[in-house]
Amino acid sequence: MYFQWYPGHMTKAKRMMQENIRLIDVIIELVDARIPASSRNPDIEQLAAGKKRVILLNKYDLADDIYTGEWKEYYDKKGYFTALVNSKSGKGIRDVNNVIMEACKEKIERDRKRGILNRPVRAMIAGIPNVGKSTFINSFAGKACTRTGDKPGVTKGKQWIRLNKNVELLDTPGILWPKFEDQDIGLRLALIGSINDDILQLEELAAELILILGRDYPEMLEKYLGFDISYEPYELLEKYAIKRGCRIKGDEADMKRAAILLLDDYRGGKIGKITLERPQI
Ligand code: G4P
Repeated sequence: MYFQWYPGHMTKAKRMMQENIRLIDVIIELVDARIPASSRNPDIEQLAAGKKRVILLNKYDLADDIYTGEWKEYYDKKGYFTALVNSKSGKGIRDVNNVIMEACKEKIERDRKRGILNRPVRAMIAGIPNVGKSTFINSFAGKACTRTGDKPGVTKGKQWIRLNKNVELLDTPGILWPKFEDQDIGLRLALIGSINDDILQLEELAAELILILGRDYPEMLEKYLGFDISYEPYELLEKYAIKRGCRIKGDEADMKRAAILLLDDYRGGKIGKITLERPQI
């Protein structure tokens, strides 16, 4: 299986970020807590140079709590301001404001010394597609927010969402396209559902998932499948197909259908809280 992306989209998205970044104090980067490294685009380091940086480990409800803690520590040590969030339920959202304030405390202090009080910090959300940017903005902004009109220097049509007296958020998130520096990154992005399934070999993907789970989460896999897992991944997928009643032409296992069920259950957190990569500490 070979994973790739369309360069045209990337250039356009990157340009949007470059145009807006000068208006921003802090970049709030969302990563997927199940793959906190593979769900980043390394170009953000250059794009966000000189800005304060917040990393939110989103979808942490789907990730392994132990590794989520390790990843948080890993990014904290690198100097990012971090928080765990579940944008869907709203869990952890309330901490984000404090994290932003902490990241921008020097700026706030500088403003205060110059007699500027209550000037809100300006933030931009960034992240790869499907990481949860829109869900996060809706959850973070909630109902209390007000949209402020165009500001000087902002491309016409740009809107700021006034979150509270401290923070203004650019309403258009920065889309960073994932970068497939190696095929393992592509595989992890495909597993969490960040790559259009139409272009993937779903049986191969499901077999890879079974291989990873058998290695890193064998008990969880066995419990989920409900049978002995000491077989090759494709054999396990076949047994699973039969168990779930996925058949074509009489008795033959419908491997593709089984692959879809397995991947859906994984992505929806039904197999368990699973992280696909570890920080290199
Ligand atoms: P994007 O703007 O970055 O492209 O992502 P978006 O907010 O559209 O979110 C992509 C999917 O991820 C959505 O699911 C959304 O509900 C889900 N999501 C976002 N944050 C979280 C989280 O913290 N935890 C979990 N479990 N899911 C999250 P969807 O299937 O496209 O829609 P829906 O069925 O949830 O409505």
